[in-house]
Amino acid sequence: MHAFEWSLPTKIIFGPGEIKRLGQETKAFGSKALLVTFAPVPAAAFILERALASLKEAGVKVVIYDKVEPNPSVRTCDEGSRLFKECGAEVVVAVGGGSAIDAAKYIASVAWSGGSAWDYVVLSTHTPRQYTGSYPIVAVPTVSAAGSEVNAGGVITNTDLKLKSFSRSPYRIPKAAIIDPELIASLPPAVTGDGGVDIFCHLIEHYLSAKENSEIADRFTEAMILTLKEYLPRALEDGSDLEARGQIALCAAFGWSGLQALGRLGTIPIHFIEHQLSAHYPMSHGRGMTILLPGYLDHFAQAAPARWAKLARRCFAITEPDDAKAATMLAGAVADWLRGMGVFRTLADEGVGPDKFEQMVEDIVAMYGTADGTVPGTRPMARRDIMEVFNRALGTS
Ligand SMILES: [Fe+2]
Repeated sequence: MHAFEWSLPTKIIFGPGEIKRLGQETKAFGSKALLVTFAPVPAAAFILERALASLKEAGVKVVIYDKVEPNPSVRTCDEGSRLFKECGAEVVVAVGGGSAIDAAKYIASVAWSGGSAWDYVVLSTHTPRQYTGSYPIVAVPTVSAAGSEVNAGGVITNTDLKLKSFSRSPYRIPKAAIIDPELIASLPPAVTGDGGVDIFCHLIEHYLSAKENSEIADRFTEAMILTLKEYLPRALEDGSDLEARGQIALCAAFGWSGLQALGRLGTIPIHFIEHQLSAHYPMSHGRGMTILLPGYLDHFAQAAPARWAKLARRCFAITEPDDAKAATMLAGAVADWLRGMGVFRTLADEGVGPDKFEQMVEDIVAMYGTADGTVPGTRPMARRDIMEVFNRALGTS
């Protein structure tokens, strides 16, 4: 286990109906808010109504910016930053899934720090600009997936370059997050399933790629995986199951908060690969993760068989005593879990073929690669490794 420093500065307000506290929580940071959210969807109109009612009751003036698309673009973020400054807002309220919250983070921090959102992302071709601060953010997650409501990260897409990247800054960790299961209850099963798999991937990224051991991090992670495995099927079967929605929402928040990586920080290879998939094709990040996960686990099983085997035994009831064999069994167990919930997907299901694989592999190496042309992972990922993960996701064989 290595030394670490960790804090969770976000005030988490959890519970059905707690959206009613949005106005008071926001007012602590300013009397005028830019409300950043997704484009209007009739089934989700009640969410915005409840948010606005609470803000109004608290006397907070609101300007609505409802242009955030899935995989938010640099253009959307930059436009939002300009609007924030023009309208004289003092605080950003993010209402939506990871896309809306990530966009809100760029809007708040770029409005403060200047320039364009793309100046700050991790790219091998430039030195990222440093944030100098951020306006405060209050987050209201309406999808359980990204955990963006309690962390420093944010992913954006450059639609001109067809590239997706990220930046992190403690300045823009939301000051408060209101996690209200009632707001999540109307999500359709497909979004619930893909979001659940994204949570699972967040939980296993560091678990499988860290070089050090930290039993407490492993146990935190395993607890959340087992919780997710118990409640995700319930939420898929009955979206209005608020207990299930709440448990999953907390897995999303704590599963990408750093709690899952205390003392053994690794890297995020599955995310490195997926980002270019959903940059090139119109699919959500969660759907991309769902598609890539089994093939990734299969291809890299022998990169750290003891880690793979530990996860297989503790969370997927694999009893095989030999690490190498147990590691190889993990991918099948995860695929079976996904199939059992009806959320298993392949690229073929999305109508995606191999024609952009080479381009995506080159983009991944260019963005996240090291000097030797490999990408950090449990072991360094060569181009052929990444190509193999894409090939296994095709689902045509
Ligand atoms: Fe993710």
